[in-house]
Amino acid sequence: MVYFEMTAPELDKTLKDIGKRLSKGDVTEAEIVKLYRRLCIPGEEIADFPARIALRSAQFGYFRWPWKIRNYYRGKRVLDVGCGQGTDGIGFVTLGATTYCGVDAGAKLDIDKVKNKNVPRVDGVTQRTGLGWTPNEIMAAFGGRISIVRGVTTDLLAEHARQPDSPKFGVVALHTVTEHLMDLKGVLSECRALMEDDGNLIFLHDNFYSWKGHHMIPKSVNDLDESNPEHMQYADWNHLIFDPPPGHYFTRALNKIRLDDLRAVTAQFFDIEIWDEIVNDFGRLTDEILARHPDYSRRDLSVSNVFCVARPKAG
Ligand SMILES: C[S@@+](CC[C@H](N)C(=O)[O-])C[C@H]1O[C@@H](n2cnc3c(N)ncnc32)[C@H](O)[C@@H]1O
Repeated sequence: MVYFEMTAPELDKTLKDIGKRLSKGDVTEAEIVKLYRRLCIPGEEIADFPARIALRSAQFGYFRWPWKIRNYYRGKRVLDVGCGQGTDGIGFVTLGATTYCGVDAGAKLDIDKVKNKNVPRVDGVTQRTGLGWTPNEIMAAFGGRISIVRGVTTDLLAEHARQPDSPKFGVVALHTVTEHLMDLKGVLSECRALMEDDGNLIFLHDNFYSWKGHHMIPKSVNDLDESNPEHMQYADWNHLIFDPPPGHYFTRALNKIRLDDLRAVTAQFFDIEIWDEIVNDFGRLTDEILARHPDYSRRDLSVSNVFCVARPKAG
């Protein structure tokens, strides 16, 4: 089958050459089209591939995650839970997914406003601006290969129950979403139900207990201003002793799950194949800070992310 020729050395070289530049958006429209033509399934090409949209989303940094996990979804249907505005879908489909479905409780299908991940933050805040196309326009341009749903996994399951013959997903991805799910167990169980038996769950988790786990400003050590009280109420693990007022982001939008609990709840529905704890204390963790937080281990405070790949449990 011609499709599998993409593992040939020539293709590997093309991919390597372009990979780093792709994540930074330092590519041309022609290179993106070439990549798409090499990775899509022969006979299933999008007739009028919208290369301008693909280039723009690469320039905004939305090929980074699809590129990182590219080896898992070629020729498969991807479900992206907590997809934001669904902009990653462009990268997934360009890099070989047959279809992409993004679902997000907060997706605004008529609004063209997304984070530009490739421009510097202003006052510590990532800039949001127009990509050039709304999610509705992106769906139309990709001729049914991309669907973006404002909703939750329960809605997708209900839809599947109405059309039981509709195919399930080969890959379910969650990019920095697991820390936001207030019913993580429920969502993971629904992800399992929406997935083919030989599918893959793939997530990148942001650990609340890490230096930047608070999700507030400062988002990086470069942004940190130690004379700014707003920064210092969260920075250098002060967020762990911060007492959030009612309705604060910490209680509303972060589940504060501990690493072992995340692993245990994932293992209820999936066999974990990769569990990669990415250690980064941003050069800020001292013995004094560790001593200030006796309820937490060095691991709790220094693992910034977990990259996990898992397969549905049999039965
Ligand atoms: C940090 S954002 C990540 C967005 C995107 N995956 C990215 O990496 O750019 C987390 C997203 O999860 C969504 N979310 C939170 N709970 C959800 C749920 N139960 N079902 C679907 N989406 C949810 C939020 O609306 C938010 O857009």
